[in-house]
Amino acid sequence: MRLDKYLCESTELSRAEAKRLLRGGEVTCNGKVIKTGSFKVPEAAEVRIEGNLLSLRGPRYIMLNKPVDFISSTADDDYPSVLNLLDIDKVSTLHIAGRLDVDTTGLLLITDDGQWSHKLMSPKKVCGKRYRVELADPIQDSAIEAFAKGVELRNEKAVTKPSTLEILSPTEVLLTITEGKYHQVKRMFAALGNKVVGLHRERVGQIELDEKLAPGEWRYLTEVEIDSVK
Ligand code: URA
Repeated sequence: MRLDKYLCESTELSRAEAKRLLRGGEVTCNGKVIKTGSFKVPEAAEVRIEGNLLSLRGPRYIMLNKPVDFISSTADDDYPSVLNLLDIDKVSTLHIAGRLDVDTTGLLLITDDGQWSHKLMSPKKVCGKRYRVELADPIQDSAIEAFAKGVELRNEKAVTKPSTLEILSPTEVLLTITEGKYHQVKRMFAALGNKVVGLHRERVGQIELDEKLAPGEWRYLTEVEIDSVK
């Protein structure tokens, strides 16, 4: 890895600040002062700033229980970003794997590992996403078969991929889908003439929302959860 990247990834320094320290001769690699950001840091090298040893932070994997009225991207004029809920360094290097609508709650996965999120979200990988859905009108049993076969969404040519519907009560269901089309769950129920009035994501692939997390709380994923995607 380049030395300037190493400095940014192991500290809270911005690129410009790292550059300034390098130019000032404050950075050593295995005891030698290095002034060029493009210098390639050898494997297991000791990098120090003003004598203080740095350690490289590994990639970060986070689950957040998204509350309503937060958006799954950078803040807009109306709502704050879910990233504001993370009280950690370098939040700007993180991205959200699979967004939720502003009024949807539940499991959001956030990482700085692009390959990991790509695997999770890739349309080639069948990754079930389970939602708890509250409906305006009672659901008919025939919806189970309709969703298993696939329904036609407005402005879409192909029908939805087979999905699994479990009816908990006339107006509360669990729906597991493997796609991630825009407003997919809301549009699927709209296709049956119903309306989603509450939407909560409980599970993505093998990763289940930790019930100990209140809305707005987060935790790092366990090794088992991270590896379930690899
Ligand atoms: N489907 C929706 O309609 N909204 C979401 O937030 C997620 C899935």
